[in-house]
Amino acid sequence: MCGIVGISARRDVVAHLISGLKALEYRGYDSAGVAVLADGRIERLRTQGKVQALEALHAGSGVAGHCGIAHTRWATHGVPSEGNAHPHVSGPVSVVHNGIIENHAALRAELQAAGYVFTSQTDSEVIAHLVARALDGQPDLLAAVRSVLPRLHGAYSIAVMSTDEPGVLVGARLGSPLVAGLGSDENYLASDIHALLPLTRRFIYLAEGDVARVDAEGVAIWDEGGAPVERAVRESQFSTDAVERGEYRHYMLKEIHEQPQALADTLEGRIAGGRVLTQILGVDAEDLLARTEAVHIVACGTSYHAGLVARYWIESLAGIPCTAEIASEYRYRNPVVRPGTLFVSISQSGETADTLAALKLARERGYLAQLAVCNVPESSIVRESSLVLMTRAGPEIGVASTKAFTTQLAALALFALAFARAKGLDEQRYLDGVRQLEQLPGLVAETLRLDAGIQDLAGDFADKQHALFLGRGTHWPVAMEGALKLKEISYIHAEAYAAGELKHGPLALVDAQMPVIAVAPNDTLIDKLLSNLEEVRTRGGVLYVFADHDIGSRVDDSRTLVMPACGEIAAPIVSTVPLQLLSYHVAVLRGTDVDQPRNLAKSVTVE
Ligand code: G6P
Repeated sequence: MCGIVGISARRDVVAHLISGLKALEYRGYDSAGVAVLADGRIERLRTQGKVQALEALHAGSGVAGHCGIAHTRWATHGVPSEGNAHPHVSGPVSVVHNGIIENHAALRAELQAAGYVFTSQTDSEVIAHLVARALDGQPDLLAAVRSVLPRLHGAYSIAVMSTDEPGVLVGARLGSPLVAGLGSDENYLASDIHALLPLTRRFIYLAEGDVARVDAEGVAIWDEGGAPVERAVRESQFSTDAVERGEYRHYMLKEIHEQPQALADTLEGRIAGGRVLTQILGVDAEDLLARTEAVHIVACGTSYHAGLVARYWIESLAGIPCTAEIASEYRYRNPVVRPGTLFVSISQSGETADTLAALKLARERGYLAQLAVCNVPESSIVRESSLVLMTRAGPEIGVASTKAFTTQLAALALFALAFARAKGLDEQRYLDGVRQLEQLPGLVAETLRLDAGIQDLAGDFADKQHALFLGRGTHWPVAMEGALKLKEISYIHAEAYAAGELKHGPLALVDAQMPVIAVAPNDTLIDKLLSNLEEVRTRGGVLYVFADHDIGSRVDDSRTLVMPACGEIAAPIVSTVPLQLLSYHVAVLRGTDVDQPRNLAKSVTVE
């Protein structure tokens, strides 16, 4: 989704602003722009399309300056176009904005009546005019921005500058993330730290409602009430290598192959002597788990699929009721919360607007605690939760989530096992579950060796318009995740069904043009699944089966790929990997933009 970079320095910053935008490309965007202050003027370059086009525009322009702001836009209000690209300008003021100003129409009408002329269809342009109007009469940019913020309803992170105060950037956030970066003789603002990693490792994460004044000498912050505050400076552990593509053709392929390591990292220090350490959720966890009588899981997209798998685990292992639902539904449906319920949010980014709003609602609803399963330390969801279980996938750049999903599953399995043991899970089943987790990195590495075989199968899909994914039990959400991957990056329409539902409708769609992909673990439902597959076969359907080693011989089809034998915990994680590879190879054959699929964003920070 939209990205912000701002730099105040004593050298020309345009190339660094554009590099920062490149590091934010993974978030998804459709246009880009940059503005710098030069000799009392605003110099601005904007373009629809890729940051590369902005770079080309800059190359011939001679635009240079010591203080500037830049933006990648993901259209919400107004089509993707150069005119709607940020920065937006009004008199001496230029602004970049992430989020949505919900009362923009009323503000636009008010500003137009006062004579301000709008040049874009965006909600964001109102901010530029409001700040310009506030500057008229009192020349302090910081005061002007602060006076405008109460008028903005919705979510925002912004960076603002004015020709009247060269070298000063003012940033503010509410509902959208913003960090300040600390350099030497220069300082920065950005919507996420990746934009600034080549420039600094030292960051201040602005809190909700904070306003920051940034210049080359320093960063000063005021809280929501206007009081000056000192926020902690954090040293980022991310290396720039972690966000490089290396030898891989796409980030997605790199991230698929990083899974054995990411899983090992997520499990590290959390299992000892064959048992999950109950302190993985903090020192009071044992008591909390004992008091937990129900679990509500809330998430979006791929993270929601992880929640659906966890629901099966928690109910089957712990015998405790568990629901998993989509955050955008949960937040508006007035959920009933029984005493003793634990709220669990799952989010790769920790910034997804609906998940964050669901968490805020949950904090008012009398849950026992709010547990975040998240990949980004210091993210809003982590900071607003009472308990945290970090996944350690490292930065995920490809929009289609891969290693974030499997590490979420590993973290949720740790939680489910620890919780189930506290609820009296049979010792043998518990120890077996933990053993499966310990074997997971090796099992996934072994599964990655199927890559060449999967690449061969991918050719069958390249000219198809539709595909059906089937699974049962924990493998139903795995099938949902497989279908999501295929539609996200190859644009093939894909649906997932619980295999038992096949004859209640989707069987009518089955013919030679509708490939049917099934994940077949060696579990208690396998006989039922094999019957469902027979139903497809006898109707002339073309089946592709990813089968557990121990049942591979029972699936009579040349398009069967045999995976390592797995138990109930490892199986859904391992089975995810071939589906990721299949989507990847199909997308490559179809020539789509694998890492930045059209219309999608990595971190959905608006509703
Ligand atoms: C976007 C991403 C998905 C992700 C979803 C939820 O749609 O493209 O990959 O699953 O948001 O994001 P979160 O960061 O909360 O897991």
